[in-house]
Amino acid sequence: MSPDPTSADTAGQAGTEAHTQVVGVELGRERYDIHVGTGLLGRLGELVPARANARAVLVTCDGLPREYVINCLTSLEAAGWAVSSFVVPDGEQSKSLAQASRIYEHCLDNGLDRGGTVFALGGGVVSDLAGFVAATYMRGVAFVPVPTTLLSQVDASVGGKTAVDLPRAKNVVGAFHQPVAVVIDVDTLTTLPEREFRSGMAEVVKHAAIADADLFRELESRDGRDLRQDAGELVEVVARNCRIKADVVISDPREEGLRACLNFGHTIGHALEIAASGWGLRHGEAVALGMVAESEMAVRLGLAEPEVPRRLRALLQAHGLADRVVRWDPEAARAAISHDKKVVNGRLRLPLVPAIGQVTVTEDVAVAELLNALDGLLLAGG
Ligand SMILES: NC(=O)c1ccc[n+]([C@@H]2O[C@H](COP(=O)([O-])OP(=O)(O)OC[C@H]3O[C@@H](n4cnc5c(N)ncnc54)[C@H](O)[C@@H]3O)[C@@H](O)[C@H]2O)c1
Repeated sequence: MSPDPTSADTAGQAGTEAHTQVVGVELGRERYDIHVGTGLLGRLGELVPARANARAVLVTCDGLPREYVINCLTSLEAAGWAVSSFVVPDGEQSKSLAQASRIYEHCLDNGLDRGGTVFALGGGVVSDLAGFVAATYMRGVAFVPVPTTLLSQVDASVGGKTAVDLPRAKNVVGAFHQPVAVVIDVDTLTTLPEREFRSGMAEVVKHAAIADADLFRELESRDGRDLRQDAGELVEVVARNCRIKADVVISDPREEGLRACLNFGHTIGHALEIAASGWGLRHGEAVALGMVAESEMAVRLGLAEPEVPRRLRALLQAHGLADRVVRWDPEAARAAISHDKKVVNGRLRLPLVPAIGQVTVTEDVAVAELLNALDGLLLAGG
């Protein structure tokens, strides 16, 4: 990992403490800051200054509290932005070319030119869709994600991957497009449905497992207590997660090698997501089960310490994750693994955690072993 350029600032504010941290991301000539803190929606215009005649479109979804949209628009207008909003329906189905096309039209109607900026206020669906629009409208305009789910704060908004879905395949049309800034207001997590927050915790645990043994221990010592009870700690954890993901992205911006380590737990997780999609399994819930099952397999193959799956399972269960899938289609899961696009000659590049805080990407695991691990989940009560 590179030296930590994360800067922190805690200032008293009208009797409550305001916490902010800045995570710097340098990608060749591109450089941007990820601002993580409390009360940042109302400071959006200050954190992302407007140039003369600056025009912006704020893309959001109708699942968010309306006050978040108003806070952002008010702050941007006060800072000199000419901004309009575009609201898409809540849900993955909005990550479509049809929806992107409607946003392009809105951008044209509102005079957004090549100097314009697209803001994305919402979860991963909004940031993937708006990022894709920003990457392609007028061959690319500035993009600022303002993520409001834990998953999008620690994962989707960092790294520059943008995409829309086609009816039969997710994320198949997309582009790499780095933001000019990311603004993360952790206060928004207070209104996030419990299950969405828990699902995001799976990615937090994943980051700690692959890259930060201290963070993993700190999470263990909290005994499953909700991070939202302490804003300062929440800011710290989100910022450390952004740092971990950003460091991986910096070393592999276009996903040609090391970035594969971020897929820890995702091979089985993705298969479960497909196999249990009819029963509403969330991405994080599937990844949590995937991390435990892949780690148990790694122990059996002598590739990981036995404490890895034990500690992972305990920490995930403390956050209401990695218990068992209530209902799923085992054949669909087996097919998803066998047809995983990473499989070449019966083998695939699989990230494994040999010890907490470390990750290796191996090609030594046969697909048959993963299928056995999947069968283990089934026997355990899937
Ligand atoms: N680009 C990447 O690197 C990357 C990484 C991971 C996931 N993704 C993508 O992210 C998407 C999933 O993102 P997600 O889990 O954030 O789902 P999401 O965007 O659908 O949000 C989940 C739900 O939470 C609601 N919500 C969001 N913020 C809220 C808040 N603060 N208060 C109340 N409700 C709120 C939304 O309206 C929605 O109903 C998928 O499409 C996935 O492919 C992209």
